[in-house]
Amino acid sequence: MQLWKGRFKKELDEKTNDFNSSISFDSRMYENDIDGSIAHAKMLAARGIISSDDLMKILEGLNKIKDDIKTGKLVIDPDAEDIHTFVELELTKLVGNAGKRLHTARSRNDQVALDIRLYLRDECDELYKLLTSLVSVISDKAEKYASSVMPGYTHMQRAQPITFGHHLLAYAEMFLRDKERLYQAKERMNYSPLGSCALAGTTYNTDREMTAKELGFNGPMHNSLDGVSDRDFCMELAAVISIIMVHLSRFSEEIILWCSWEFKFVELDDAFSTGSSIMPQKKNPDITELIRGKSGRVFGDLTTLLTMMKGLPLAYNKDMQEDKEAIFDAFDTVKICLKTFIPMLETMTAIPQNMRKAAAAGFINATDCADYLVGKGVPFRDAYKATGELVAICITKGLTLETLSIDEYIKVCDKFDDGIYDAINLDNCVTNRTSLGGPAPQNVMIEIERIRELNK
Ligand code: ARG
Repeated sequence: MQLWKGRFKKELDEKTNDFNSSISFDSRMYENDIDGSIAHAKMLAARGIISSDDLMKILEGLNKIKDDIKTGKLVIDPDAEDIHTFVELELTKLVGNAGKRLHTARSRNDQVALDIRLYLRDECDELYKLLTSLVSVISDKAEKYASSVMPGYTHMQRAQPITFGHHLLAYAEMFLRDKERLYQAKERMNYSPLGSCALAGTTYNTDREMTAKELGFNGPMHNSLDGVSDRDFCMELAAVISIIMVHLSRFSEEIILWCSWEFKFVELDDAFSTGSSIMPQKKNPDITELIRGKSGRVFGDLTTLLTMMKGLPLAYNKDMQEDKEAIFDAFDTVKICLKTFIPMLETMTAIPQNMRKAAAAGFINATDCADYLVGKGVPFRDAYKATGELVAICITKGLTLETLSIDEYIKVCDKFDDGIYDAINLDNCVTNRTSLGGPAPQNVMIEIERIRELNK
């Protein structure tokens, strides 16, 4: 049944009703809808727009509806037009005329704009907590592997020595920024549209400051058209979540590589891996692959929202009903990804010997070799060239910079001496990289402290 009877002579066509209805996805906002109505009713009574007797009835009715839905006593009607309609009709069934007065000085347009904000505010808090525990798990892992030498890569080619702890902390920094972005987006969203009404405010003497305060907003929104017609907060949050998914997806991609026999840098716990139905030897990193895949659907949600909004004239248009499935899906997806990824990461073990073995091949200490010559007064470009020649010799002879004799070094450049072997020792290469933000274990420990402080 619809609220907007009166001017219509026929029942709504059944298929059209299904098409028009949002109840299947907006019923999850029932508590927010009721909380919004409670604040609105209190304001109406405070301003003398409804009687205190009506207020009492409305509050009792709304609280009963909330409890009954929670306990399953009241089942949300799948044929209702939307959650706002359903709650109002139930209230009227319970308390009669008082229920019919609730919608004074309000529209479903400001009501829905309010409900989504209230709902997403809680979602932001939950996501924020998940990110906090992710950063904390990463920091603990980084501490454990603060001095495990591994190759750092560019172009997927071994480049320079770093530590696993340092590598992990790169992700901690990304997720810390994600937390900040999420927090800021939530703060920007946290203004109340309630009282904007359909689009043009109202002639009733409403108190929008009161409802905003009652509902925990920073204040009311200051343009009634804007209040009902923008969904920038949905777009912004979907963008924030998309970036989180990019970070999760890159991390997942690396874990997938690290799990392969080509790398074998890490081992996932059995509880977070899957097998193959035909190949008995397989242990697959499905969780990380799913996260990599699900990032695509979240970008789809963002695209849905941007495209849905871009051509809409002010103010409300029914197109905007499409906002909810997209933004809810983005939150549902990122939350389920994190809830699985965090314990998977927590139980993942590194295999430092394999990282070290990979670091020993690929000449990742070549820059350090060149830097050694620079220390002897050779200009960097000449030192670079000499080291390139040494690498070429090593490749033809099947040697490494560590196993190449000092005579060979001196043949290429007479500034070399025995000190070169210390300079290119992998542990030294890492320990000496103490520039701010660098991979030296002591730096890693300092940054872990900083990250833990920021993550509080
Ligand atoms: N179900 C609608 C939505 O999600 C609620 C607002 C309806 N307003 C209207 N004027 N038809 O957007």
